[in-house]
Amino acid sequence: MSDGQRSPTSGQIVVSGLTKQYRNVRAVNNLSFTVEPGRVTGFLGPNGAGKTTTLRMLLNLVTPTSGTATIGGQRYADLVEPLRHVGAVLEASSAHKGRTGINHLRVLCAAAGLPRQRADEALALVGLTPAAKRKFKGYSLGMKQRLGIAAAMLGDPRVLVLDEPANGLDPEGIRWMRGLLKGLAHEGRTVLVSSHLLSEMQLLADDVVIIAAGHLVRQGPVDQVIGSMTQGVRVRVRTPQAEALVAALKSQNATVDGDGQGALLVAGVDAATVGRVALGAGVELHELTTERPDLEGVFLELTAGKAGIR
Ligand SMILES: Nc1ncnc2c1ncn2[C@@H]1O[C@H](COP(=O)(O)OP(=O)(O)OP(=O)(O)O)[C@@H](O)[C@H]1O
Ligand SMILES: [Mg+2]
Repeated sequence: MSDGQRSPTSGQIVVSGLTKQYRNVRAVNNLSFTVEPGRVTGFLGPNGAGKTTTLRMLLNLVTPTSGTATIGGQRYADLVEPLRHVGAVLEASSAHKGRTGINHLRVLCAAAGLPRQRADEALALVGLTPAAKRKFKGYSLGMKQRLGIAAAMLGDPRVLVLDEPANGLDPEGIRWMRGLLKGLAHEGRTVLVSSHLLSEMQLLADDVVIIAAGHLVRQGPVDQVIGSMTQGVRVRVRTPQAEALVAALKSQNATVDGDGQGALLVAGVDAATVGRVALGAGVELHELTTERPDLEGVFLELTAGKAGIR
């Protein structure tokens, strides 16, 4: 499909004031964020934060109590031929047990009015061609995940929405999926992927949207979100003159701990200050490194106290 048929903004997702009230729980609470084309956006939050509910509202599978979610300015329900715009992988895909992988995709193509050869292309895209003629009931969990992604790609969509797609994949499968999703974003597609695997998100995502208890906690480029955290930033120092350095640093109101492996961890001052203090005290340094918390540390800090399960 040529890009000329699509407006330049067709891949942007805008969630605005989205709210879902179930009988006893406000699953999603006045949530607003945007997701840009050409990037992988990680949608993060503790269990029960409202990720799946948000994605289901975006895909018109759950009706919002209030607020809107649009794709390229249109609600999913208003998209003509939605499968050509949005591909979704919501859970390990289900298919007729006795049907082969390729036939499952062909049935979906026929139902959506897509050319039959898209089934073969999508199967190849996810590396399932060797298992094309095997029955779905014999597929492993990882193969089912791949088939789900193939189904989502049938319409060559501009936007991909995946809910915890790494579930059930082995390390090789996760690495494969990372390459696939990054490649699809690189082609200019919008890739929104929820996960609780924070370490994986750090490798995969360009941007993150972090929610807790239905609320937005933070959104932005991964590096900025991590970089904005001043808490938890420490300077790792190695020196043969630890005592002298600790004394000099304490006079600067820094706090100093040992890391248990012969290095000092300094908080409250930056690396340049540690270097200057060391120079002034005539202390020799063997290592001077700024340590920022990783996404996991940031995530735990940002969502602390906001109980996931409600
Ligand atoms: N159909 C429903 N009826 C009632 N409550 C629901 C329904 N669907 C979700 N919830 C509640 O809404 C909250 C958010 O659930 P949701 O599945 O969106 O979270 P999640 O972020 O996807 O969690 P997880 O990481 O465990 O997949 C939870 O408290 C959940 O119990
Ligand atoms: Mg979920």
